[in-house]
Amino acid sequence: MEIRELYQELIIDHSKNPKNFGVLKGADFHAEGINPLCGDSYEVFIKMDGGKISEVKFTGVGCAISKSSASMMTEAIKGKSKKEALELLEDFREMLGGSKKDLGKLSVFQGVHDYPSRVKCASLVWFTMAAAINKKKNVSTE
Ligand code: FES
Repeated sequence: MEIRELYQELIIDHSKNPKNFGVLKGADFHAEGINPLCGDSYEVFIKMDGGKISEVKFTGVGCAISKSSASMMTEAIKGKSKKEALELLEDFREMLGGSKKDLGKLSVFQGVHDYPSRVKCASLVWFTMAAAINKKKNVSTE
């Protein structure tokens, strides 16, 4: 199996069985993000405990890339501080821009760089997470 196919399987798997999918009651931070080009939108909910992200969930509808990215984002930022989560967003954006930085499991999205129209799909929920942390209610990829 080519490495690229393996990556695609991981994306498909997360989009079919997303982790941390659902509403989080009593969240400290919450925002909604939309990609106006396709109308896909997600909500992100974050709970903090002792300066760290203790719980994070998302809901919404979207393509396989955006949903799997959302699923993996929730796993990636759990246990991090707000600052660390925003730093990871920057690393993720740089990776989508073509940097070869190793971001572990998130490196599965490296191939998205070759498909500019899908970069917004992969980053949608990450921008939504950042909006929530920065206390903005809504964010758009445009
Ligand atoms: Fe809408 Fe991917 S097609 S977010």
